[in-house]
Amino acid sequence: MLATDLPTSMIPPATLPPIDLARPFQLALAPGRAALAAASAVATAPHLNATIMLVDDEPINNETVQLHLENAGYRRFLATTNPLEVMDLVRDHHPDTVLLDLRMPALDGFEILAQLKEAPHIRHVPVIVLTASSDAASHLRALELGAHDFLAKPVDPSELVLRLRNTLVAKAYQDHLINYSQLLEEQVRLRTAELELARTEAILCLARAGEYRDDVTGNHVIRVGRYVHVIARELGIDPNRAALLEQAAQLHDIGKIGVSDLTLLKPGKLTMEEYAQMQRHCEFGLKIIQPMADTDWQTLHGSVPAVHGGGLASSPIMRLAASIAYTHHEKWDGSGYPEGLSGARIPLEGRITAVADVYDALSTVRPYKQALPQDECFAILREGRGTHFDPQVLDAFFACQDEIVRIQHQLADAPRTKTSIS
Ligand SMILES: [Fe+2]
Repeated sequence: MLATDLPTSMIPPATLPPIDLARPFQLALAPGRAALAAASAVATAPHLNATIMLVDDEPINNETVQLHLENAGYRRFLATTNPLEVMDLVRDHHPDTVLLDLRMPALDGFEILAQLKEAPHIRHVPVIVLTASSDAASHLRALELGAHDFLAKPVDPSELVLRLRNTLVAKAYQDHLINYSQLLEEQVRLRTAELELARTEAILCLARAGEYRDDVTGNHVIRVGRYVHVIARELGIDPNRAALLEQAAQLHDIGKIGVSDLTLLKPGKLTMEEYAQMQRHCEFGLKIIQPMADTDWQTLHGSVPAVHGGGLASSPIMRLAASIAYTHHEKWDGSGYPEGLSGARIPLEGRITAVADVYDALSTVRPYKQALPQDECFAILREGRGTHFDPQVLDAFFACQDEIVRIQHQLADAPRTKTSIS
């Protein structure tokens, strides 16, 4: 019997027609055995490093296809005659392409295609179906289940190699896109983290710059921010917003930059005029954080919602910071400043910062006072429930007082070494 009388899949590899691997995307017909040299010339082509999985319940079919492909330069194979182990093999070895027989016992090719389609991390592995059937319905069903291509049995070696190469090239493009997409996502993630870190550091630097004017160096702004975060969480505020509040609260006294040294650093009691100027640090803070608000400042008088909704601030964190800087000295009963707002008209972020700021002022050393004992600090805060402080916010503070005290100790200031103003 001549080799040409054999089923194609049974043709010994030595009689394989040549494959022009240098010309992709062409189903070239075999021009002759001499052209096998061309295959060796491109033996280093990346697609030849692909891992090809062969699935057929007849061992001879796997062996024959493998020999055809070895002759074309492929060298990595994964073969099985057991359809039940296909999914595990694909998961474990991540082949670049699966050559799948359709008619198999126990589990046929359709079922394997269906399982692959549902598997999260391997559903993109391309499958070339090998079938002796020319039944259009079977082809359609296989395509619906995600088959990428078909090869008729008996397999024509030329067609096998070229269809496989085309499939691998397409998969290589797909992998490249997936990798590129993952790379971009990673770069965006890193860049976002860098920007967030830069923002965090910039806010802290600005807050500390303000502290230096007030001779309140140390961790005051950090502690106030942390207290605000804890209270906000206890109040049920969204974690992302609570994290923003922590940073925004660090800028609560940044407006003190605008208060004159004579007033800010005055060791004795302030005159009425000096006290009025000191109170203006809320206004200055708003202007510093919201430079765009300058021309519209007058419109804010008595209209705190404009701080939030007036379109004057840029980012959400700076809008919160501006609101806190402006309203953290307001009191629940309306006796605070600068607006004399009362109750819920005071933005929640201002009410929370008021509690955190007062607690830190009471519990730490200041140039003009010693730190008060814990019980005394708590007693003073309780006295202000419903007058100075929002009762709900104060209750949240006491609900997490253990965490507050823990933060206080963790972030305690080092003993002061510079001359204090008393
Ligand atoms: Fe303040």
